[in-house]
Amino acid sequence: MGHPTLRRAARPVSPSEHGTPWLHALVDDMIDTLHDYGGIGLAAPQVGESLRLALIEIQGDSRYGEIPSMPLTAFVNPTVEVVDPARAGYWEGCLSVPGLRGYVERPQHIRVDYTTLSGRSERLELRGFLATVFQHEFDHLDGTLYIDRIEDPRLLGFDEEFERYLAPRDAA
Ligand code: NI
Repeated sequence: MGHPTLRRAARPVSPSEHGTPWLHALVDDMIDTLHDYGGIGLAAPQVGESLRLALIEIQGDSRYGEIPSMPLTAFVNPTVEVVDPARAGYWEGCLSVPGLRGYVERPQHIRVDYTTLSGRSERLELRGFLATVFQHEFDHLDGTLYIDRIEDPRLLGFDEEFERYLAPRDAA
């Protein structure tokens, strides 16, 4: 956080870049970073590349509790359409904002159109926590961080205080 690339709208991946060794090398680097830091998503601007590209990988038993899993997938030039604007909140974290958690409400039913690494068009419909994860990642492509979407700044805390005070408050 603080690096200008993270705050800028990223450029689309051009059709001629699909399938290139350069793009695959970038994705491989991003996979390593995602795994090194134990995250569930990573967008190219987080590793200094101002490109509309993000990875998401969710294992069912992550630190976010019992959630649907999703195999490692690369999303190129994704767009989000809100199907139902009804919102729900989750405690979000971000590899670019280390050590913090914040409570963010987002629409819980969205449609995502994207291109695969090989250039095929795909569409997904997502609900609940997955809808939140995708919106968080794709916000990075427009230079937006989750902290920008926290409506009550008191609901932002360090991981340690989150575990001690904020998570139990939610469970109660
Ligand atoms: Ni993030």
